[in-house]
Amino acid sequence: MNILITGICGFAGSALAKSLLRHRENLTLLGIDNLSRAGSETNLEPLRALGCKIQVADLRSPETLRNFPRIDWLIDAAAEPSVLAGTGLNPATSADLLDINLVSTIPMLELCKKHGAAFTLLSTSRVYGLEPLCKIPLENRSNAFTPLAGAGTENFSMGISEEFPQTPPLSLYGTSKRCAEMLSLEYGAAFEFPVWINRCGVLAGAGQFGKADQGIFSYWIHRWAKRLPLRYIGFGGHGLQVRDCLHPADLTGLLLQQADSGLGLEKPRIINLSGGISSACSLRQLSDWCSERFGEHTVIASPEHRPFDVPWLVLDSTRAKNAWNWSPATSHHHLFESIAQHAEENPDWLSLCGAAG
Ligand SMILES: NC(=O)c1ccc[n+]([C@@H]2O[C@H](COP(=O)([O-])OP(=O)(O)OC[C@H]3O[C@@H](n4cnc5c(N)ncnc54)[C@H](O)[C@@H]3O)[C@@H](O)[C@H]2O)c1
Repeated sequence: MNILITGICGFAGSALAKSLLRHRENLTLLGIDNLSRAGSETNLEPLRALGCKIQVADLRSPETLRNFPRIDWLIDAAAEPSVLAGTGLNPATSADLLDINLVSTIPMLELCKKHGAAFTLLSTSRVYGLEPLCKIPLENRSNAFTPLAGAGTENFSMGISEEFPQTPPLSLYGTSKRCAEMLSLEYGAAFEFPVWINRCGVLAGAGQFGKADQGIFSYWIHRWAKRLPLRYIGFGGHGLQVRDCLHPADLTGLLLQQADSGLGLEKPRIINLSGGISSACSLRQLSDWCSERFGEHTVIASPEHRPFDVPWLVLDSTRAKNAWNWSPATSHHHLFESIAQHAEENPDWLSLCGAAG
């Protein structure tokens, strides 16, 4: 099987490439990455040493995928993945964001159309509407926002399902991914190749290029280890905002099942995939974990509102469980510990990721 992973040197792309090679024999892994993400260059030679054939190229150039060899499956893990991209709070402009996350999807879909190859999009929890997310009634339980349970309130005890409203605004990032989802499904339906939309919650693990606006678990643990300034931004500056977390390698078995099942229409084309409620953690709780692991550090309260922030975002992956018998394998404590060990072994990691300032 010939697989192309775009963004192969990124956190998710590289983790998936290594994990696919561990899971299955007779795979040829091809990759494209322009190494624009600070730190991604560290994955290039190690992946090549594993046999991945990687082209350093920009997916925005029409030449990159023209005359590309035959593939059976394309996994799109190339993106500008920050929710702040295009807002002026991140170096990427709105045009860059849309070029990378949406327009660059077109030559990938054309390639899948040409070869009848399966297409997997790593999408995001940020396709859900900002306002409905911010309206979920919450209370503080054990230093973490938690949905209020009771009469008249919707039940979010398992997280947010695929049925949650997707009414704009989502964020420019969320909209770029939502449009890419729709375009991909449209291509798949029109040209009869399998398309899988996997909406991931926060991805985390050792070796992630954490920065303040993306890769938060890695960023927080690395900065705590070095006692660099950290801030609880927004929501009163108490750090009660909650996310779940998942290691991308936990997706491997499911992605292989999807790729093997071809055009079988009985499976849902869109699913949530996340660490879910059992991995949900607030920044305050993450700080408590860091404090036990590394010792005390002070976090600054910055109560000012940051655009596109949401207080609680946890995905419900029941549809993936029912359709594919999928559930996450790596606990969040295991994830945190692996990041902590990586921080100890790589004291210059934040400089490499452009996140030491
Ligand atoms: N990390 C998360 O928490 C998370 C959550 C949900 C969804 N996702 C999605 O998963 C995918 C992978 O995210 P990640 O965390 O690995 O991000 P990442 O930044 O670590 O990896 C993205 C890779 O794409 C490459 N890239 C960017 N623009 C490119 C271009 N024009 N041409 C070629 N290569 C380019 C970058 O150099 C980088 O190596 C993205 O689509 C993202 O939207 C990530």
